[in-house]
Amino acid sequence: MDSYWNVRYHEEGLIWGQNPSSTAFHARDIFKQNNVTTVLVPGSGYGRNTKALSADFTVEGIELSGHAVKLARQWDPQSHFMEGSVLDSPTGGKKYDAVYCFDLLHLFLLKDRRKLIDHCIKQLNDSGIMYFTCFSDEDTHNGAGKRVEEGTFEYMEGKCAHFFTEEDLINHFGGLNLMEVGSVTEKLTYQDERTKEYLLRYIVVKKD
Ligand SMILES: C[S@@+](CC[C@H](N)C(=O)[O-])C[C@H]1O[C@@H](n2cnc3c(N)ncnc32)[C@H](O)[C@@H]1O
Repeated sequence: MDSYWNVRYHEEGLIWGQNPSSTAFHARDIFKQNNVTTVLVPGSGYGRNTKALSADFTVEGIELSGHAVKLARQWDPQSHFMEGSVLDSPTGGKKYDAVYCFDLLHLFLLKDRRKLIDHCIKQLNDSGIMYFTCFSDEDTHNGAGKRVEEGTFEYMEGKCAHFFTEEDLINHFGGLNLMEVGSVTEKLTYQDERTKEYLLRYIVVKKD
C-alpha cells in the first residue's frame, strides 16, 4: 500500500484538490463544543483535512506515504506530521482529546480495521471523541470487484474497499458512546478541475 500511495502522491500531488471535506468542518464544530485542544489525524495524506482543523487545535497527523508527508508539511505547516503506519503499535504513550480519521478505515480487512480503531482508542484521553468517515454500502461503487470478506471487495489488484452499512459501522465502535451517525455526499474537485461525488458514512463516538 505504501508504494501505491507514494506513487499516486508523486504523480498527482494534491490528489483531491485543496478544499477540505465538509466532514472536517463538522468535526471541527463538534470538537469545539466539547473543548477539544489536541487532535490526531491517522492517514493524514497531504493535509487536505488537517488544514481545516489546525487553526483551532493542535493537530498531529500520521501518514504511511513519505511523499504525502512532504506535501503536507508544505500545505499545512501548522500541523505536525509523522511518517509511519497506523497499524504499528502506538509508541510514546501520547494521548489526544480527539481523533479525526477520513476515509482510511475502509481500506483495511476486518482484522486491521479492528486494530486501527483499537490503536486510536488507546491514544484517546478519557472523554475523548473520535470522528471517522468511510465508504457507504449505498454508494454506487459497492460490489465492484472480487468479494474478499463480507462487504469488502478487491476493486483492483491488491486494493480492497469495505462498504459499511450503518449497523456495521456502529458495531465497529461497540463499547464507545455513540454521539452521532449519518451519511454525507463527498464532493471532490481534482487538481485538473474534474469533479466527483460519492456517498460516505460518518460516526462520532465518545470514550467514557
Ligand atoms: C483515501 S486516502 C485519504 C487521505 C486523507 N485522509 C485525505 O482526505 O486527504 C488514505 C490515506 O491513508 C494513508 N494510509 C494508508 N494506509 C496507512 C497506514 N497503514 N498508516 C498510515 N496511513 C495510511 C494513505 O497513504 C493515504 O494518504
